[in-house]
Amino acid sequence: MYSTLPLISLALLTTVSSTPVLDVSQDQWRSLNSTVGGRLHTGTPFALPCFSVYNNHSVNLDEQACGVIQANYNSPQFRVDTFSANMFVEFETCMKTGSKCLLDPTDLPAIAGQSCGQGEIPPYYIEVQTAGDIQAAFKFSEQTKVPLSIKNSGHDLFGRSRRPDSLGLWTRKLQTMSYEPTFVAEGCKGSSNRAITTGAGVTLAQVYQFADQHNSTFVGGYSETVGASGGWLMGGGHSVLSPTLGLGVDRVLEIKIVTPDGQLRTANACQNTDLFWALRGGGGGTFGVVTESTHLVEKSFSLQVINMTFVATPANLPEYFAVLVNNSVRWADEGWGGHINNAPAGIAYVNSQLSLANATASMAPVAAFAAANNGTATFTTFSSWFDFFTNFVTKAEVPVGGSASLGSRLMPKTLYETDTGRAQLVAHLVKQTTEHGMPAVGVVTPISFKATPGATAVTPAWRNSLWHLELPSFWAYNSTPAQVSAGLSVAHDFVQTELVPLAPDSGSYMNEGDVYESNHEVSYWGSNYARLLEIKNKYDPKGLLSCWRCVGWTGPDPTEYPCYPTLAAVPNTPT
Ligand SMILES: Cc1cc2nc3c(=O)[nH]c(=O)nc-3n(C[C@H](O)[C@H](O)[C@H](O)COP(=O)(O)OP(=O)(O)OC[C@H]3O[C@@H](n4cnc5c(N)ncnc54)[C@H](O)[C@@H]3O)c2cc1C
Ligand SMILES: *[C@@H]1O[C@H](CO)[C@@H](O)[C@H](O)[C@H]1NC(C)=O
Ligand SMILES: *[C@@H]1O[C@H](CO)[C@@H](O)[C@H](O)[C@H]1NC(C)=O
Ligand SMILES: *[C@@H]1O[C@H](CO)[C@@H](O)[C@H](O)[C@H]1NC(C)=O
Ligand SMILES: *[C@@H]1O[C@H](CO)[C@@H](O)[C@H](O)[C@H]1NC(C)=O
Ligand SMILES: *[C@@H]1O[C@H](CO)[C@@H](O)[C@H](O)[C@H]1NC(C)=O
Ligand SMILES: *[C@@H]1O[C@H](CO)[C@@H](O)[C@H](O)[C@H]1NC(C)=O
Ligand SMILES: *[C@@H]1O[C@H](CO)[C@@H](O)[C@H](O)[C@H]1NC(C)=O
Repeated sequence: MYSTLPLISLALLTTVSSTPVLDVSQDQWRSLNSTVGGRLHTGTPFALPCFSVYNNHSVNLDEQACGVIQANYNSPQFRVDTFSANMFVEFETCMKTGSKCLLDPTDLPAIAGQSCGQGEIPPYYIEVQTAGDIQAAFKFSEQTKVPLSIKNSGHDLFGRSRRPDSLGLWTRKLQTMSYEPTFVAEGCKGSSNRAITTGAGVTLAQVYQFADQHNSTFVGGYSETVGASGGWLMGGGHSVLSPTLGLGVDRVLEIKIVTPDGQLRTANACQNTDLFWALRGGGGGTFGVVTESTHLVEKSFSLQVINMTFVATPANLPEYFAVLVNNSVRWADEGWGGHINNAPAGIAYVNSQLSLANATASMAPVAAFAAANNGTATFTTFSSWFDFFTNFVTKAEVPVGGSASLGSRLMPKTLYETDTGRAQLVAHLVKQTTEHGMPAVGVVTPISFKATPGATAVTPAWRNSLWHLELPSFWAYNSTPAQVSAGLSVAHDFVQTELVPLAPDSGSYMNEGDVYESNHEVSYWGSNYARLLEIKNKYDPKGLLSCWRCVGWTGPDPTEYPCYPTLAAVPNTPT
């Protein structure tokens, strides 16, 4: 019932007065709607059906629709198919003002009588189906000054798929997939590759299944619903297979994109090469709207997997971390990738290079540790990546529907190569666990992958690091703005006081970093930033696209970014 709100109710939908979106006449909206084939929709908060007050006005609570929301509140598959839903829900809200429409699905009475606020949900969005829809949106934004936001799956951890009072572009419905055993990029000559092309709305689980049907493996991340062509790809794109097979940006062969001047361009190694380079690490939401991407895939292969869990105690932590740190260089040489998990404590590592017997021998120190610490270590051979993904990864999926932010840093291999470095890292890991709980680590860096030097724009720190070390911070759905700021500060302060000193010359992953990263240009792109900025200015000279800590971002101007709080007492990087 809320999806058909008439245009006249726009004033009810907006959170901030006197923004360009309010100056747009109904005729202009109607005209845009007809240009995009009737695919312009009003955006209302995900959980609105569960509320009887919306932006301070009485509305009818819809019990049936609310029941569906309640049942699917923590489902990534349901959220990915809903424009107004994010995976981490603080980005549906306006964190600074507290305007929000969240709930605890196990405690609906707690929200009785409360007002559902619009938060950061755009009042209008286009369900993109053609390049023409995107061209119309750029033209509209230029004429009306209404900012644009681009949303695919809604996983972004900086809220970059949202902007309040913007016109949203939702790419999820771009659902084509094709397999080409002898793909040659447009305008290129020479050898062909086994490749899969994905429309911009295709998720990782979809492409894994499609690849499997063609006896192929798509190298991608650990989530069913992250998109294969959006922020994941453009920001780097890690996988537990990345240590030997590279990042998403190392494997992409071609990208089709509508740039802000309205041109539909094909970027690859032979045309629009500057743009192709920038899209390989410069980030989503910055250089245009991608409509599809083509990726190198591998012939299917089997995988050895170790699943180790144990009962962590203050007494066994130093030995646990020492086992992991001491063996990490050898494991990298042997082709292992994986995750060090916080809950339950343990590791899940995968290997496509070793036999089961050799994999078991390689991981003997971990199995011995588990046996001595009330733990278990099981070794399993999976027949393919898809077999592993469906029978293992999906059982261990990250819960969504709550509020969380991350701090993280890439840990250079050199730290693992000396007694001093190893001791420092182990001491750090024990301290992090004691103060903030068990860390989450992605063993996902392309350490053994032979990348073409200079071919991608990700921070060069990816290439000589062994771990992507993370600190997750969580807070409750009903937190006050001050509590939300405190939650964001935990990750930020930890990065600045602990992780940067541990690896001062390294960098971090722009898709899974600190929302408030100090010196983010250097952390996320290293020496590549200056060239990225030139390319941004070349393809988007009027600045029609901008996002938080993206290439070309000029700072936290509160008129442009009214929902990011200013953190109190942000310490600077110690020098
Ligand atoms: C539960 C969870 C698991 C994750 N697992 C992994 C993992 O295993 N490996 C990994 O590398 N990362 C992982 N991530 C991080 C992930 O890469 C980022 O959240 C990434 O931004 C998701 O991209 P998206 O397009 O799916 O999401 P969105 O939030 O929809 O978009 C992300 C950014 O890309 C832009 N964008 C999206 N589509 C387009 C498009 N078509 N054209 C231009 N810009 C676009 C958006 O504007 C936004 O800035 C995970 C995140 C979560 C929350
Ligand atoms: C756009 O047009 C379609 C088809 O006519 C209509 O269903 C839809 O409600 C319109 N969108 C808005 C925001 O009015
Ligand atoms: C709702 O009312 C509160 C308290 O009076 C006010 O701060 C807020 O701005 C109002 N929200 C809207 C959308 O009108
Ligand atoms: C995939 O491999 C199986 C077993 O080798 C074979 O039967 C099947 O025809 C192959 N499918 C494709 C699409 O190549
Ligand atoms: C694998 O195991 C076999 C048999 O034990 C051994 O001969 C071989 O050297 C091992 N290979 C590696 C790479 O460890
Ligand atoms: C293992 O469990 C036993 C029984 O619960 C307990 O007494 C012992 O301390 C545990 N050992 C370790 C290393 O956690
Ligand atoms: C890993 O092992 C633990 C302990 O046996 C088990 O509870 C868990 O389900 C396993 N994980 C997966 C994804 O199979
Ligand atoms: C790890 O290596 C250090 C030397 O760098 C050594 O002192 C320590 O005993 C080793 N610990 C384990 C558990 O391997």
